[in-house]
Amino acid sequence: MKAETQLQNPYEPEPMRLIRRYPLNEDVHFFQVRAVDMEKALSLNYLPGQFMMISINGIGEAPFSISSTPSRPGLLEFGIRKVGNMTNRIFQLKENGIFGVRGPYGNGFPIEKIKGNDLVIIMGGLGAVPLRSLLLYALDNRDQFGKIYLLHGARTPDEMLFRNEFFNMMKRDDLFCHLTVDQDDTGQWPFETGVVTRLFGKLAHIDPKNTYFAVCGPPVMYKFVVAEILKLNVPKHQILMTLERRMKCGVGKCGHCIIGGYIYTCLEGPVFSYWDVLHMKGLI
Ligand SMILES: Cc1cc2nc3c(=O)[nH]c(=O)nc-3n(C[C@H](O)[C@H](O)[C@H](O)COP(=O)(O)OP(=O)(O)OC[C@H]3O[C@@H](n4cnc5c(N)ncnc54)[C@H](O)[C@@H]3O)c2cc1C
Ligand code: FES
Repeated sequence: MKAETQLQNPYEPEPMRLIRRYPLNEDVHFFQVRAVDMEKALSLNYLPGQFMMISINGIGEAPFSISSTPSRPGLLEFGIRKVGNMTNRIFQLKENGIFGVRGPYGNGFPIEKIKGNDLVIIMGGLGAVPLRSLLLYALDNRDQFGKIYLLHGARTPDEMLFRNEFFNMMKRDDLFCHLTVDQDDTGQWPFETGVVTRLFGKLAHIDPKNTYFAVCGPPVMYKFVVAEILKLNVPKHQILMTLERRMKCGVGKCGHCIIGGYIYTCLEGPVFSYWDVLHMKGLI
């Protein structure tokens, strides 16, 4: 699968129209957007795990993971948390409003290596945004993957991103979908409670040599999740994680995202294997 089709000049934002927007929870909104130029909208290709730079005139730019799947061309989807200046302005956009997007950037998940293997996707909090792209891609190309597991943890039922979408996925017989919340303040949560590592019991029968793991969540999650994955004897290069760093240009020019003195996380990441992480100080 090729992911080289950028919108045009990689440095120049392409005009995009906001098609649809709605809240995923109190702080995070879902944005569905499309290039104004329909030909570019349909030809844009990307890999799950890549990100785009969203720009607002007079304010600036910021990186956001793509949450849609390249297997459904035309629309790009994002899940954005309001935290500061840029995201406040993005939240002020109205449906049909026009703004700029450039990309895609970053390495994305090594889809061709994962194909033919089982896939376990482990997401927490905002980590659901990039991993939804991988999950939808794998489900849309179901015959190219072995067993697929989704383990998703959120703090509370109300905070769980894409909750209804995942509830519906639980009905599928070609996906093992397990959801948990740290605490059920509604008293009506029908699934597991406890942190996401509690769901590892569901993975008792995996074949570690033929299974890839994809992990994304809050920084504290990685340590505990990786420890559980290692107990299953999964090779380190098959444990993949998307890691965020402060980024400015997204194209290897400004140096804002460098770690360990020479690693450009905007080019070599945001997806890293646990093997990479072990050999590069400061990744997690
Ligand atoms: C590769 C990549 C993918 C991303 N994907 C998403 C996504 O899918 N959805 C989403 O909501 N956000 C995502 N982010 C983070 C997003 O870029 C920042 O939230 C945004 O730049 C904040 O801009 P701001 O001007 O609103 O806030 P600022 O005024 O810049 O910051 C407000 C607060 O947020 C914190 N903050 C800012 N940027 C980051 C960051 N990268 N990581 C942690 N804390 C940060 C600051 O420390 C500060 O406390 C991603 C970042 C990267 C590098
Ligand atoms: S963000 Fe500018 S070099 Fe990576």
